[in-house]
Amino acid sequence: MNSEDALKQVVTSETAAIMVEVVQGEGGIKLMSEEFAKALTATCEEFGCLLIIDEVQTGIGRTGSAFAYEQFGLSPDIVTLAKGLGNGFPVGALIGKEALKDSFSPGSHGSTFGGNPLAMAAAEAVLTEVFSADLLKSVQVKGDWLKEELKKNVDSLSIVEEVRGKGLMVGIACEIEVAPIIEACREKGLLVLPAGPKVIRLLPPLLVSEQELKQAVQVITEVLTKLTQNLSVNQ
Ligand SMILES: Cc1ncc(COP(=O)(O)O)c(C=O)c1O
Repeated sequence: MNSEDALKQVVTSETAAIMVEVVQGEGGIKLMSEEFAKALTATCEEFGCLLIIDEVQTGIGRTGSAFAYEQFGLSPDIVTLAKGLGNGFPVGALIGKEALKDSFSPGSHGSTFGGNPLAMAAAEAVLTEVFSADLLKSVQVKGDWLKEELKKNVDSLSIVEEVRGKGLMVGIACEIEVAPIIEACREKGLLVLPAGPKVIRLLPPLLVSEQELKQAVQVITEVLTKLTQNLSVNQ
């Protein structure tokens, strides 16, 4: 991510497509830089390859816009979606630009349960709710608050390297492995995930309340502060 040299090394005239996340989920809540986004667009134009954005984790309002790529000045040819699309119901989608539509004939991009009416109804209901301007705005406001509050409370701790993210997709990069931190949070009633060995990943429901976010910040602050103190005593 964000290495223009790496991009130059791997892309050739034989490359059919480049597939990326604009905020890496499992990869550690790493955000694509503005320069890299520009380089991606230029490279796709130069080599005539498609730009595919994997929005399985970032899409459907998670980062405060319908799709995360909108905030990075990108114009993908194809976008992949899943997770948030069904709000718990298993459904995924691949959407593409009009120009690509003749690459598929009816039935050529199907799967056993693909396009079933129940999943379509669930996805339609989710899109109607989530793509409302009010909901997307609230994700931005809550996400900014969460990031700022975490920065205020834990950024200065020696085990914390950085708080980063977009909307309600927030990571706390640590200097140490986060498995014990995640366990300690769980014991205090807060479920968080790792993203790689050293990043704590926060993906609260988009409807999370301010009160719940406050509680989460309190638990994370307590856990990280205690761990920092224990580590400094043992050193
Ligand atoms: C960014 C991203 N892409 C793709 C996937 C895989 O999605 P699925 O389980 O729907 O195949 C995941 C799953 O975590 C993901 O985070």
